[in-house]
Amino acid sequence: MKISPSRIATFEILSKIETEKSFSSVLLPIYEEKLEAKDRGLCHELTLGTLRKQIYLDRVIEKLTNGKKIDSAIKIILRIALYQLIFLDKIPAHAAINDAVNLTQKAKKKSAKGFVNAVLRRFTRENIELEFSGEIEKLAVETSHPQWLVEKWIADFGFEETATLAAANNETPKPGFRLTAKTTDAVKDALENKNIKNEKAFLRELAENGKIYFQDEGSQIVGNAVQLKENESFLDICAAPGSKATLVASKKEKGKRKNLIVAGDFYWQRVKHLQENCRNQGVGFVNIVQYDAENALPFADESFDVILLDAPCSGTGTIRHNPEIRYFLQKKDFAELSGKQLKILCRASKQVKRGGRIIYSTCSLEKEENEEVVGKFLDENKDFRPINPQVDEVFLTRQGFARTFPQRDKMDGFFIAVFEKM
Ligand SMILES: C[S@@+](CC[C@H](N)C(=O)[O-])C[C@H]1O[C@@H](n2cnc3c(N)ncnc32)[C@H](O)[C@@H]1O
Repeated sequence: MKISPSRIATFEILSKIETEKSFSSVLLPIYEEKLEAKDRGLCHELTLGTLRKQIYLDRVIEKLTNGKKIDSAIKIILRIALYQLIFLDKIPAHAAINDAVNLTQKAKKKSAKGFVNAVLRRFTRENIELEFSGEIEKLAVETSHPQWLVEKWIADFGFEETATLAAANNETPKPGFRLTAKTTDAVKDALENKNIKNEKAFLRELAENGKIYFQDEGSQIVGNAVQLKENESFLDICAAPGSKATLVASKKEKGKRKNLIVAGDFYWQRVKHLQENCRNQGVGFVNIVQYDAENALPFADESFDVILLDAPCSGTGTIRHNPEIRYFLQKKDFAELSGKQLKILCRASKQVKRGGRIIYSTCSLEKEENEEVVGKFLDENKDFRPINPQVDEVFLTRQGFARTFPQRDKMDGFFIAVFEKM
Protein backbone atom coordinates (compact mmCIF):
# COMPACT_ATOMS: atom_id res chain seq x y z
CA MET A 1 0.00 0.00 0.00
CA LYS A 2 1.90 3.02 -1.27
CA ILE A 3 0.53 6.47 -0.46
CA SER A 4 2.13 9.75 -1.47
CA PRO A 5 3.92 11.22 1.59
CA SER A 6 2.42 14.61 0.71
CA ARG A 7 -1.14 13.23 1.09
CA ILE A 8 -0.30 11.46 4.37
CA ALA A 9 1.16 14.72 5.74
CA THR A 10 -1.88 16.71 4.52
CA PHE A 11 -4.23 14.23 6.21
CA GLU A 12 -2.32 14.44 9.50
CA ILE A 13 -2.15 18.26 9.41
CA LEU A 14 -5.86 18.65 8.61
CA SER A 15 -6.76 16.13 11.34
CA LYS A 16 -4.75 18.13 13.90
CA ILE A 17 -6.39 21.38 12.79
CA GLU A 18 -9.83 19.79 13.11
CA THR A 19 -9.33 18.06 16.46
CA GLU A 20 -6.78 20.25 18.26
CA LYS A 21 -7.55 23.66 16.72
CA SER A 22 -3.91 23.86 15.59
CA PHE A 23 -2.82 26.34 12.95
CA SER A 24 -1.65 25.44 9.43
CA SER A 25 1.08 28.12 9.68
CA VAL A 26 2.56 26.24 12.65
CA LEU A 27 2.08 22.67 11.35
CA LEU A 28 3.15 23.12 7.72
CA PRO A 29 6.79 24.06 8.44
CA ILE A 30 7.10 21.11 10.87
CA TYR A 31 5.78 18.58 8.34
CA GLU A 32 7.45 20.15 5.32
CA GLU A 33 10.84 19.90 6.96
CA LYS A 34 10.41 16.09 7.10
CA LEU A 35 9.25 15.81 3.47
CA GLU A 36 11.45 15.55 0.40
CA ALA A 37 11.48 18.67 -1.78
CA LYS A 38 9.28 16.98 -4.45
CA ASP A 39 6.47 16.33 -1.92
CA ARG A 40 6.62 19.67 -0.12
CA GLY A 41 4.80 21.72 -2.76
CA LEU A 42 1.88 19.28 -3.06
CA CYS A 43 1.46 19.06 0.73
CA HIS A 44 1.35 22.87 0.92
CA GLU A 45 -1.16 23.14 -1.91
CA LEU A 46 -3.40 20.33 -0.63
CA THR A 47 -3.45 21.61 2.96
CA LEU A 48 -4.17 25.26 2.24
CA GLY A 49 -6.35 24.55 -0.80
CA THR A 50 -8.55 22.07 1.08
CA LEU A 51 -8.90 24.49 4.01
CA ARG A 52 -9.81 27.36 1.68
CA LYS A 53 -12.59 25.28 0.09
CA GLN A 54 -13.72 23.32 3.15
CA ILE A 55 -17.36 24.46 3.37
CA TYR A 56 -17.82 24.06 -0.38
CA LEU A 57 -16.27 20.58 -0.31
CA ASP A 58 -18.48 19.57 2.62
CA ARG A 59 -21.55 20.57 0.61
CA VAL A 60 -20.37 18.41 -2.29
CA ILE A 61 -19.79 15.51 0.14
CA GLU A 62 -23.27 16.02 1.61
CA LYS A 63 -24.77 15.83 -1.86
CA LEU A 64 -22.74 12.75 -2.86
CA THR A 65 -23.62 10.87 0.34
CA ASN A 66 -27.25 12.04 0.51
CA GLY A 67 -26.58 13.77 3.83
CA LYS A 68 -25.24 10.65 5.59
CA LYS A 69 -23.41 11.28 8.89
CA ILE A 70 -19.69 10.72 8.25
CA ASP A 71 -16.79 9.95 10.59
CA SER A 72 -14.48 12.98 10.86
CA ALA A 73 -11.33 11.20 9.53
CA ILE A 74 -13.28 9.93 6.50
CA LYS A 75 -14.62 13.41 5.86
CA ILE A 76 -11.07 14.81 5.83
CA ILE A 77 -9.95 12.09 3.39
CA LEU A 78 -12.90 12.88 1.10
CA ARG A 79 -12.21 16.63 1.30
CA ILE A 80 -8.58 16.15 0.24
CA ALA A 81 -9.51 13.86 -2.66
CA LEU A 82 -12.36 16.05 -3.89
CA TYR A 83 -10.18 19.15 -3.71
CA GLN A 84 -7.82 17.44 -6.15
CA LEU A 85 -10.61 16.19 -8.42
CA ILE A 86 -12.35 19.57 -8.59
CA PHE A 87 -9.56 22.14 -8.40
CA LEU A 88 -6.27 20.57 -9.53
CA ASP A 89 -6.05 19.67 -13.19
CA LYS A 90 -2.58 18.09 -13.15
CA ILE A 91 -3.49 15.24 -10.80
CA PRO A 92 -4.97 12.12 -12.45
CA ALA A 93 -8.29 11.10 -10.85
CA HIS A 94 -7.04 7.55 -10.17
CA ALA A 95 -4.06 8.88 -8.14
CA ALA A 96 -6.32 11.02 -5.93
CA ILE A 97 -8.87 8.23 -5.49
CA ASN A 98 -6.38 5.38 -4.85
CA ASP A 99 -4.52 7.40 -2.24
CA ALA A 100 -7.82 8.30 -0.56
CA VAL A 101 -8.81 4.64 -0.34
CA ASN A 102 -5.37 3.65 1.00
CA LEU A 103 -5.40 6.55 3.48
CA THR A 104 -8.71 5.19 4.77
CA GLN A 105 -6.97 1.92 5.64
CA LYS A 106 -3.98 3.75 7.13
CA ALA A 107 -6.37 5.77 9.31
CA LYS A 108 -7.63 2.38 10.68
CA LYS A 109 -11.00 2.75 8.97
CA LYS A 110 -10.64 -0.29 6.72
CA SER A 111 -14.37 -0.97 6.67
CA ALA A 112 -14.96 2.44 5.04
CA LYS A 113 -12.68 1.78 2.03
CA GLY A 114 -15.56 0.74 -0.23
CA PHE A 115 -17.60 3.77 0.84
CA VAL A 116 -14.76 6.22 0.08
CA ASN A 117 -14.16 4.58 -3.29
CA ALA A 118 -17.87 4.63 -4.19
CA VAL A 119 -18.35 8.30 -3.19
CA LEU A 120 -15.36 9.44 -5.23
CA ARG A 121 -16.26 7.29 -8.27
CA ARG A 122 -19.78 8.71 -8.11
CA PHE A 123 -18.28 12.19 -8.28
CA THR A 124 -16.32 11.30 -11.45
CA ARG A 125 -19.51 9.94 -13.11
CA GLU A 126 -22.12 12.50 -12.12
CA ASN A 127 -22.58 16.19 -12.63
CA ILE A 128 -22.95 17.58 -9.10
CA GLU A 129 -24.83 20.86 -8.79
CA LEU A 130 -25.36 22.57 -5.44
CA GLU A 131 -28.56 24.42 -4.58
CA PHE A 132 -28.72 27.55 -2.43
CA SER A 133 -31.55 29.25 -0.60
CA GLY A 134 -30.31 32.70 -1.71
CA GLU A 135 -27.39 34.93 -2.67
CA ILE A 136 -25.92 35.06 0.84
CA GLU A 137 -25.80 31.30 1.27
CA LYS A 138 -24.33 30.95 -2.24
CA LEU A 139 -21.57 33.45 -1.41
CA ALA A 140 -20.85 31.76 1.94
CA VAL A 141 -20.62 28.26 0.44
CA GLU A 142 -18.79 29.20 -2.75
CA THR A 143 -16.13 31.13 -0.84
CA SER A 144 -16.21 28.72 2.14
CA HIS A 145 -16.93 31.19 4.91
CA PRO A 146 -19.41 30.50 7.74
CA GLN A 147 -22.71 32.11 6.83
CA TRP A 148 -22.95 34.07 10.11
CA LEU A 149 -19.59 35.74 9.33
CA VAL A 150 -20.64 36.59 5.78
CA GLU A 151 -23.89 38.07 7.14
CA LYS A 152 -21.91 40.14 9.66
CA TRP A 153 -19.55 41.46 6.96
CA ILE A 154 -22.51 42.29 4.69
CA ALA A 155 -24.00 44.34 7.56
CA ASP A 156 -20.63 46.06 8.13
CA PHE A 157 -19.24 46.48 4.60
CA GLY A 158 -22.09 45.75 2.13
CA PHE A 159 -22.62 42.76 -0.19
CA GLU A 160 -20.20 43.68 -3.00
CA GLU A 161 -17.32 44.46 -0.63
CA THR A 162 -17.96 41.22 1.28
CA ALA A 163 -17.91 39.25 -1.96
CA THR A 164 -14.51 40.69 -2.96
CA LEU A 165 -13.17 40.29 0.59
CA ALA A 166 -14.27 36.64 0.78
CA ALA A 167 -12.69 35.95 -2.64
CA ALA A 168 -9.45 37.73 -1.63
CA ASN A 169 -9.30 35.61 1.53
CA ASN A 170 -8.90 32.52 -0.67
CA GLU A 171 -6.04 33.91 -2.74
CA THR A 172 -2.48 32.76 -2.07
CA PRO A 173 -0.70 35.80 -0.63
CA LYS A 174 2.52 36.93 -2.22
CA PRO A 175 5.23 36.31 0.41
CA GLY A 176 6.35 39.64 1.86
CA PHE A 177 9.69 40.17 3.55
CA ARG A 178 11.79 43.00 4.90
CA LEU A 179 15.41 43.70 5.74
CA THR A 180 16.73 43.28 9.28
CA ALA A 181 19.54 44.70 11.40
CA LYS A 182 21.69 41.85 10.01
CA THR A 183 21.08 42.47 6.29
CA THR A 184 24.48 43.06 4.68
CA ASP A 185 25.18 45.30 1.67
CA ALA A 186 25.96 42.17 -0.38
CA VAL A 187 22.49 40.76 0.40
CA LYS A 188 20.87 44.12 -0.42
CA ASP A 189 22.70 44.12 -3.78
CA ALA A 190 21.67 40.57 -4.59
CA LEU A 191 18.03 41.35 -3.74
CA GLU A 192 18.03 44.54 -5.79
CA ASN A 193 19.72 43.06 -8.84
CA LYS A 194 17.74 39.83 -8.65
CA ASN A 195 20.77 37.88 -9.88
CA ILE A 196 19.69 34.85 -7.87
CA LYS A 197 19.31 31.32 -9.26
CA ASN A 198 16.82 29.70 -6.90
CA GLU A 199 15.09 32.70 -5.34
CA LYS A 200 12.87 30.67 -2.98
CA ALA A 201 15.80 28.71 -1.49
CA PHE A 202 17.94 31.88 -1.34
CA LEU A 203 15.27 33.79 0.59
CA ARG A 204 14.64 30.85 2.92
CA GLU A 205 18.32 30.64 3.79
CA LEU A 206 18.53 34.40 4.39
CA ALA A 207 15.49 34.20 6.68
CA GLU A 208 16.99 31.28 8.63
CA ASN A 209 20.11 33.39 9.21
CA GLY A 210 18.06 36.44 10.21
CA LYS A 211 19.23 38.48 7.22
CA ILE A 212 15.68 39.02 6.04
CA TYR A 213 12.36 38.46 7.83
CA PHE A 214 9.16 37.20 6.21
CA GLN A 215 6.43 39.63 7.20
CA ASP A 216 3.23 40.63 5.44
CA GLU A 217 3.14 44.20 4.19
CA GLY A 218 0.17 45.07 6.43
CA SER A 219 2.12 44.01 9.52
CA GLN A 220 5.12 46.04 8.33
CA ILE A 221 2.89 49.13 8.05
CA VAL A 222 2.04 48.77 11.75
CA GLY A 223 5.71 48.38 12.71
CA ASN A 224 6.66 51.37 10.56
CA ALA A 225 3.93 53.50 12.19
CA VAL A 226 6.00 53.32 15.40
CA GLN A 227 8.42 56.09 14.67
CA LEU A 228 10.76 56.56 17.61
CA LYS A 229 12.55 59.83 18.08
CA GLU A 230 16.06 59.82 19.49
CA ASN A 231 16.10 58.71 23.14
CA GLU A 232 12.41 57.77 23.25
CA SER A 233 11.74 54.66 25.33
CA PHE A 234 9.48 52.02 23.80
CA LEU A 235 7.35 49.16 25.10
CA ASP A 236 5.83 46.55 22.78
CA ILE A 237 3.22 45.27 25.19
CA CYS A 238 1.96 42.16 23.29
CA ALA A 239 5.10 41.47 21.34
CA ALA A 240 5.49 37.76 20.54
CA PRO A 241 6.72 36.46 18.14
CA GLY A 242 8.28 39.88 17.65
CA SER A 243 7.56 40.80 14.02
CA LYS A 244 6.96 44.42 14.92
CA ALA A 245 9.35 44.73 17.89
CA THR A 246 12.25 43.52 15.72
CA LEU A 247 11.24 45.90 12.94
CA VAL A 248 11.21 48.86 15.35
CA ALA A 249 14.53 47.76 16.91
CA SER A 250 16.16 47.23 13.50
CA LYS A 251 15.91 50.96 12.85
CA LYS A 252 18.31 51.76 15.66
CA GLU A 253 21.70 52.33 14.13
CA LYS A 254 24.64 50.64 15.81
CA GLY A 255 26.43 53.00 18.20
CA LYS A 256 23.32 55.19 18.48
CA ARG A 257 21.22 52.81 20.54
CA LYS A 258 20.09 55.16 23.23
CA ASN A 259 16.45 54.14 23.21
CA LEU A 260 15.30 51.65 25.81
CA ILE A 261 13.33 48.98 23.95
CA VAL A 262 11.22 46.53 25.96
CA ALA A 263 9.05 43.75 24.56
CA GLY A 264 6.83 41.38 26.52
CA ASP A 265 4.16 38.73 26.23
CA PHE A 266 2.05 36.42 28.36
CA TYR A 267 2.96 32.91 27.22
CA TRP A 268 6.36 31.47 28.07
CA GLN A 269 6.75 29.57 24.77
CA ARG A 270 5.92 32.74 22.86
CA VAL A 271 8.31 34.80 25.02
CA LYS A 272 11.08 32.30 24.16
CA HIS A 273 10.21 32.59 20.46
CA LEU A 274 10.32 36.39 20.77
CA GLN A 275 13.74 36.19 22.35
CA GLU A 276 15.09 33.85 19.63
CA ASN A 277 13.64 36.09 16.94
CA CYS A 278 15.37 39.17 18.40
CA ARG A 279 18.70 37.32 18.63
CA ASN A 280 18.39 35.88 15.13
CA GLN A 281 17.70 39.31 13.62
CA GLY A 282 20.61 40.96 15.40
CA VAL A 283 18.55 42.97 17.90
CA GLY A 284 19.42 41.00 21.02
CA PHE A 285 19.55 44.33 22.91
CA VAL A 286 15.72 44.30 23.14
CA ASN A 287 14.74 43.70 26.78
CA ILE A 288 12.32 40.80 27.05
CA VAL A 289 9.75 40.43 29.83
CA GLN A 290 6.95 37.98 30.64
CA TYR A 291 3.73 39.29 32.26
CA ASP A 292 -0.03 39.35 32.13
CA ALA A 293 -0.81 42.74 30.63
CA GLU A 294 -4.50 42.36 31.49
CA ASN A 295 -3.81 42.38 35.19
CA ALA A 296 -0.52 44.07 36.05
CA LEU A 297 2.60 45.31 34.31
CA PRO A 298 5.96 45.24 36.07
CA PHE A 299 6.79 48.89 35.35
CA ALA A 300 6.26 52.15 37.23
CA ASP A 301 3.50 54.42 35.89
CA GLU A 302 4.54 56.75 33.06
CA SER A 303 7.72 54.77 32.23
CA PHE A 304 7.56 54.83 28.41
CA ASP A 305 7.40 57.48 25.70
CA VAL A 306 5.84 55.15 23.15
CA ILE A 307 3.79 51.97 23.60
CA LEU A 308 2.64 49.60 20.88
CA LEU A 309 -0.37 47.47 21.76
CA ASP A 310 -0.72 44.98 18.91
CA ALA A 311 -3.62 43.35 20.66
CA PRO A 312 -4.70 39.69 20.77
CA CYS A 313 -7.61 39.60 18.31
CA SER A 314 -9.80 37.45 16.08
CA GLY A 315 -7.31 37.72 13.20
CA THR A 316 -10.02 38.10 10.53
CA GLY A 317 -7.62 40.29 8.56
CA THR A 318 -5.20 37.37 8.16
CA ILE A 319 -7.49 34.66 6.76
CA ARG A 320 -5.38 34.55 3.57
CA HIS A 321 -2.47 33.30 5.66
CA ASN A 322 -4.53 31.35 8.21
CA PRO A 323 -7.55 29.94 6.34
CA GLU A 324 -8.72 27.86 9.32
CA ILE A 325 -9.41 30.95 11.50
CA ARG A 326 -12.86 31.31 9.92
CA TYR A 327 -13.89 27.84 11.15
CA PHE A 328 -12.62 28.39 14.72
CA LEU A 329 -14.38 31.72 15.24
CA GLN A 330 -17.73 32.07 16.96
CA LYS A 331 -20.10 35.03 17.00
CA LYS A 332 -19.50 35.70 20.69
CA ASP A 333 -15.70 35.95 20.28
CA PHE A 334 -15.68 39.57 19.11
CA ALA A 335 -17.36 40.86 22.29
CA GLU A 336 -15.05 38.75 24.49
CA LEU A 337 -11.94 39.92 22.67
CA SER A 338 -12.97 43.56 22.75
CA GLY A 339 -13.26 43.37 26.57
CA LYS A 340 -9.72 42.02 26.76
CA GLN A 341 -8.40 44.60 24.29
CA LEU A 342 -9.92 47.50 26.24
CA LYS A 343 -8.52 46.15 29.50
CA ILE A 344 -4.96 45.94 28.12
CA LEU A 345 -5.33 49.36 26.48
CA CYS A 346 -6.33 50.89 29.84
CA ARG A 347 -3.29 49.23 31.48
CA ALA A 348 -1.03 50.58 28.74
CA SER A 349 -2.44 54.07 29.24
CA LYS A 350 -0.98 54.18 32.76
CA GLN A 351 2.52 53.27 31.56
CA VAL A 352 2.86 55.99 28.95
CA LYS A 353 4.36 59.39 29.80
CA ARG A 354 2.54 62.70 29.27
CA GLY A 355 3.26 63.83 25.73
CA GLY A 356 3.86 60.17 24.82
CA ARG A 357 1.91 57.96 22.38
CA ILE A 358 0.06 54.67 22.31
CA ILE A 359 -0.23 52.84 19.01
CA TYR A 360 -3.17 50.44 19.13
CA SER A 361 -3.38 47.84 16.37
CA THR A 362 -5.14 44.61 15.50
CA CYS A 363 -5.16 42.26 12.53
CA SER A 364 -8.94 42.14 12.76
CA LEU A 365 -11.42 43.65 10.30
CA GLU A 366 -14.15 43.91 12.91
CA LYS A 367 -15.35 47.29 14.21
CA GLU A 368 -16.02 45.67 17.61
CA GLU A 369 -12.26 45.12 18.08
CA ASN A 370 -11.21 48.38 16.43
CA GLU A 371 -13.27 51.59 16.26
CA GLU A 372 -15.55 50.49 19.13
CA VAL A 373 -12.63 49.66 21.49
CA VAL A 374 -10.97 52.94 20.62
CA GLY A 375 -14.26 54.86 21.10
CA LYS A 376 -14.77 53.35 24.56
CA PHE A 377 -11.16 54.03 25.52
CA LEU A 378 -11.36 57.70 24.51
CA ASP A 379 -14.70 58.11 26.34
CA GLU A 380 -13.16 56.78 29.55
CA ASN A 381 -9.74 58.48 29.21
CA LYS A 382 -10.15 62.16 28.57
CA ASP A 383 -6.41 62.79 28.91
CA PHE A 384 -5.82 61.06 25.55
CA ARG A 385 -6.50 62.48 22.11
CA PRO A 386 -6.39 60.60 18.81
CA ILE A 387 -3.75 61.62 16.29
CA ASN A 388 -3.24 60.41 12.72
CA PRO A 389 -1.13 57.24 12.42
CA GLN A 390 2.13 57.68 10.50
CA VAL A 391 1.12 55.77 7.39
CA ASP A 392 0.64 56.47 3.70
CA GLU A 393 -2.52 58.58 3.48
CA VAL A 394 -4.32 56.00 1.30
CA PHE A 395 -4.71 53.90 4.44
CA LEU A 396 -6.22 56.69 6.59
CA THR A 397 -9.92 56.40 7.41
CA ARG A 398 -12.34 59.32 7.68
CA GLN A 399 -12.20 58.99 11.47
CA GLY A 400 -8.41 59.45 11.48
CA PHE A 401 -7.43 55.80 11.99
CA ALA A 402 -5.66 53.53 9.49
CA ARG A 403 -6.92 50.35 7.88
CA THR A 404 -5.61 47.92 5.32
CA PHE A 405 -7.81 45.37 3.53
CA PRO A 406 -6.87 42.15 1.70
CA GLN A 407 -9.30 42.86 -1.17
CA ARG A 408 -8.27 46.50 -1.61
CA ASP A 409 -4.58 46.55 -0.74
CA LYS A 410 -3.48 42.94 -1.47
CA MET A 411 -2.16 42.64 2.07
CA ASP A 412 -3.48 41.44 5.43
CA GLY A 413 -6.16 43.56 7.06
CA PHE A 414 -4.84 45.70 9.91
CA PHE A 415 -6.28 48.52 12.01
CA ILE A 416 -4.17 51.26 13.61
CA ALA A 417 -5.15 54.05 16.00
CA VAL A 418 -2.72 56.40 17.73
CA PHE A 419 -3.38 58.35 20.93
CA GLU A 420 -1.32 61.06 22.54
CA LYS A 421 -1.37 61.50 26.32
CA MET A 422 -2.00 65.15 27.15
C1 LIG B 1 -1.40 39.84 17.72
S1 LIG B 1 -0.32 38.94 18.71
C2 LIG B 1 1.11 39.94 18.73
C3 LIG B 1 1.95 39.85 17.50
C4 LIG B 1 3.24 40.61 17.63
N1 LIG B 1 3.04 42.00 17.98
C5 LIG B 1 4.07 40.55 16.38
O1 LIG B 1 4.02 41.46 15.58
O2 LIG B 1 4.76 39.54 16.19
C6 LIG B 1 -0.97 39.21 20.30
C7 LIG B 1 -0.09 38.70 21.40
O3 LIG B 1 -0.70 39.04 22.64
C8 LIG B 1 -0.30 38.08 23.58
N2 LIG B 1 -1.18 38.16 24.76
C9 LIG B 1 -2.43 37.68 24.90
N3 LIG B 1 -2.90 37.96 26.13
C10 LIG B 1 -1.91 38.64 26.77
C11 LIG B 1 -1.79 39.18 28.08
N4 LIG B 1 -2.79 39.09 28.95
N5 LIG B 1 -0.63 39.78 28.41
C12 LIG B 1 0.38 39.89 27.52
N6 LIG B 1 0.31 39.40 26.28
C13 LIG B 1 -0.81 38.77 25.91
C14 LIG B 1 -0.39 36.78 22.81
O4 LIG B 1 0.39 35.79 23.41
C15 LIG B 1 0.13 37.20 21.44
O5 LIG B 1 1.49 36.91 21.33
